[in-house]
Amino acid sequence: MRPLLVGTSFKMNLTSSEGARYFDVLRPLAAPLTSCELFVLPPFTSIWVARERLQGSNVAWGAQDVHAEDAGAHTGDISAPMLADLGCTFVEVGHSERRRDHGETDESVAGKVHQILRHGMTPIVCVGERTMEGRDSALHHVMAQVRTVLGPVAASDRSRVVIAYEPVWAIGTGATAADPGHVGAVHSGLHDFLRSRAGGSVDTRVIYGGSVDLQTSGPILEQGGVDGLFVGRAALDALYFAAIAGQAQEIAAPRR
Ligand code: PGA
Repeated sequence: MRPLLVGTSFKMNLTSSEGARYFDVLRPLAAPLTSCELFVLPPFTSIWVARERLQGSNVAWGAQDVHAEDAGAHTGDISAPMLADLGCTFVEVGHSERRRDHGETDESVAGKVHQILRHGMTPIVCVGERTMEGRDSALHHVMAQVRTVLGPVAASDRSRVVIAYEPVWAIGTGATAADPGHVGAVHSGLHDFLRSRAGGSVDTRVIYGGSVDLQTSGPILEQGGVDGLFVGRAALDALYFAAIAGQAQEIAAPRR
């Protein structure tokens, strides 16, 4: 069994100086958490700081987005070779805030996934239904997203992909995490789909994101098919993120 994957995106938070302090606090707290795979996704401007402070630790770093081309006339964008050169392991794509603010679609996300894999990094593909709805309808929605995004991915690359199930209604201030039963049903359904011929016959890790905190992380991780957590605002405090990772470690240890 693969280790639980527990990570966070800072979104558009923390300056590089604040990021440096965050990494310095997290590094020793994360060191004993060897049953989990940990990652942080700071803003682009702090990725070099993450490399400086986390190199040689058990916390990987990465980015929150990438352009689908290697280089060229794309003002303000960042390419996969740039991220790979900074030692990034993970690259998040298709977050609902990027879909909302930058018009990203499953088709454009598919192009980014191809690029991330081509440069030897791991894509974290965010999917999720927009409004609160039943398990079957949520599953139907995310299966369609996964089909479009992973359709062009070669079978040999598919197992390297991570899917983040992030119901849009469960993300952000004022929202609450999805019910663990709902999360478990969607994750199990996604795994069944990925293993099926129609879904490409290759399973991937599926992690949950959306208002994860210390209260919700345990019950969600106990669900079958939940391979980890993608924590947002609760993890902007390194101590709190380490506490969530510590809880995952306790749950992961007996799983092995
Ligand atoms: P949140 O963010 O935990 O602040 O809701 C989660 C996410 O967007 O991944």
